[in-house]
Amino acid sequence: MRRIAAKFAASLLLGSALIHPADAQAGPKPSSSQLPANDAAIEARVEALLAKMTAEEKAGQLSQFFYFAQIPAMAKGVDDQIAAGKAGSILFTTDPKLLNRAQKMAVEQTRLKIPLLVGFDVIHGLHTIFPVPLAMAASWDLKLVERSQAVAAQEARAVGIHWTFAPNVDVALDARWGRIVEGAGEDPYLGSAMAAAQVRGFQGSYIGAPSHIIAGPKHFAGYGAAMGGRDYDQSEISENQLHNLYLPPFKAAIDAGAGNIMAAYMALNGVPAAGNHRLLTDTLRTEWGFRGWVVSDAGGVDALRTHGIAKDGTEAAVKAISAGTNMEMVPPGQKAHMPSLAAAITEGKLTTAELDAMVRPVLAAKFRMGLFENPYVDEARAAKVLADPAHAVAARAAAERSAVLLRNEGDLLPLDRRKVRSLAVIGPLADSQRDMLGPWIFSMNNPSAESLLAGIRAKVGQGVTVSYSEGVRIPARVNPSPFDMMDGKRTKPEPIDEDAEIAKSVALARQSDAAILVLGEAQNMSGEKASRASFDLPGRQKELLDAVVATGKPVVVVLMSARPLTVQDSKAAAILDIWYPGSQGAAAAANLLFGDAVPGGKLPISWVRSAAQTPMTYARLPSHDPTDAAKRYQEGSNEPAWPFGFGLSYTSFAYSNLKVLTPKVAHGSPVNITVDVANSGPRSGDEVAQLYIHQKHGTSSRPVRQLKGFERVTLKPGEKRTLTFTLSPEDLRYWSDATRSWIEDSSDFEVWVGGDSTASLGGSFEVGER
Ligand code: NOJ
Repeated sequence: MRRIAAKFAASLLLGSALIHPADAQAGPKPSSSQLPANDAAIEARVEALLAKMTAEEKAGQLSQFFYFAQIPAMAKGVDDQIAAGKAGSILFTTDPKLLNRAQKMAVEQTRLKIPLLVGFDVIHGLHTIFPVPLAMAASWDLKLVERSQAVAAQEARAVGIHWTFAPNVDVALDARWGRIVEGAGEDPYLGSAMAAAQVRGFQGSYIGAPSHIIAGPKHFAGYGAAMGGRDYDQSEISENQLHNLYLPPFKAAIDAGAGNIMAAYMALNGVPAAGNHRLLTDTLRTEWGFRGWVVSDAGGVDALRTHGIAKDGTEAAVKAISAGTNMEMVPPGQKAHMPSLAAAITEGKLTTAELDAMVRPVLAAKFRMGLFENPYVDEARAAKVLADPAHAVAARAAAERSAVLLRNEGDLLPLDRRKVRSLAVIGPLADSQRDMLGPWIFSMNNPSAESLLAGIRAKVGQGVTVSYSEGVRIPARVNPSPFDMMDGKRTKPEPIDEDAEIAKSVALARQSDAAILVLGEAQNMSGEKASRASFDLPGRQKELLDAVVATGKPVVVVLMSARPLTVQDSKAAAILDIWYPGSQGAAAAANLLFGDAVPGGKLPISWVRSAAQTPMTYARLPSHDPTDAAKRYQEGSNEPAWPFGFGLSYTSFAYSNLKVLTPKVAHGSPVNITVDVANSGPRSGDEVAQLYIHQKHGTSSRPVRQLKGFERVTLKPGEKRTLTFTLSPEDLRYWSDATRSWIEDSSDFEVWVGGDSTASLGGSFEVGER
């Protein structure tokens, strides 16, 4: 069995109090109670407490239990563990009263009075629901993302949650994998920027900042490469992809100060993540200097048995700890394995020093969060925080800024309320509240949303006649989603006669000035255990769409999904992708449809033509046959229907005057590029200017294009802005399999700036020896 190296054990593991320079300067000076705790003081408190603890109590701190406090029969077992000092952390209760009760047991009934650390999946909001993370990435707006997760943190902290299992920073090239919804898409640069912004939003300036919570980026590492897009299946990732594609967002999250990391479920190249010493110790701690704690995914320690690297629970616990997993997340009905560590020490399988090293960062997190001083929350205040109207305003802005306009023939959008006097709103998702919210929301937090139909009715008022037809149903999944069980408010709808409904939809469209079809996937078709082998519109939606388009009336498709759907061949004039837009999605989408907001989002994924095209990235390597790169399949183009970075506006933008200010630089020097972007259309709007590079020669073959900069700008009609991009040496570095090291080549580079990954306005520069 592999032991933790002494050097590493000594450096373990007191979460750092990282302050961002920008935060340090901004705003009023914090009061002393808001200041981060001093490292040495925390360390002293941890050591003093550790010295009093038995091996059993230490193992207790490394055990985290699912706790459904609202269901007494399920809570009883965990209550007993808490009262016996055998639970360091709990997850899944969000009621402040029940959390106070649990804390009281920990603080008053256990020998050492150690409070609980409370975790929860605050993925895109708690009560106020923001667009799903893939949508947030489509905003390309880092401030928006940071602010949104700060709101989520505020709500979570108010009810007594201290830690979120987020952000999901798994890069995914394969949209068959349902969890692509939780991440930032296919690109490591955008993914890294989103990862850091979310960590800043959740945590604030330092761990323990008021109204903030600890961020736990996940799933370390390589989960997004699940073979065939099948959730939970193995990932086989080359060193090239691991270093250049999958790890960078994790590194960015750690550099932004993330206090926790969740180990993935799956085996990476044959080694299950929770027992992967190379990942959890060599890379995360030794190389990157991570000082927080690692939690397994639910049942991830026990799964070392099912993966076949441990013969029993004790060996699983010892292997997990020795690899670098501090805490075991124990699902309902499963036995905790960390308690067996006490016996493992007696049997010489683990040393006390090794166990202590894993307990330290967990205790440090509790001290940093101020839980020993104040383990409870103010229940009355919690209700007020959840009801804060500012949160709805933030959620609406996020939904408006994350929508992506894929097609707008004849400038059909925005709809003109003076001309469109009657509107047929059609489709299985048009009158759904639940689907607006997306996956990873829970009815116990009382999230709410209007349906898009209600949002449209509210927007147009009495003057416009709005008719509605469901059209068709989205068929239930053949293999049901485990999350449906937790979705308290779900009711089984009455069956409909789809033939009659399609006929009704067609008739309504005929009678109306325009039709809006709200199509896509039900929210339970994305998320965990939600892989798909087809990107066709589920059920008879395509038939419905074709039938309505055949009326000749102007048709707008509003799409809801978190993966590309095969809609490019439809003749609908306009396609607006709103993903799963959250609590304020209806009002936001109505604003977009009628021009009170202008779409400015851009795709964080390549919109493939079918599932058969996955995995897909715009950042492919050149190959020996670059000219035919779009003709790899005999059936036709293998280019995506819409490229990475793509998104239209109600106005247009023109790029000009790209200048490389530093056409020849030495290694280590920045490269500066300026470009003009102008609003060349009739109205104000946002553009996301994107910078891509290509390294032409060097040690390894490098992608034909790689995103290395972006900026979202708002421009008035006729307004022109000069944007400056700076490429740092870090941006030009990559990991080469030829040398098995990070490389900065002397090379010629091409550079482009434009509105998507096919930008044509370019220039060049050269990087040479110092
Ligand atoms: C399993 C999921 O993989 C993980 O992302 C989540 O945080 C935990 N369950 C807890 O809900």
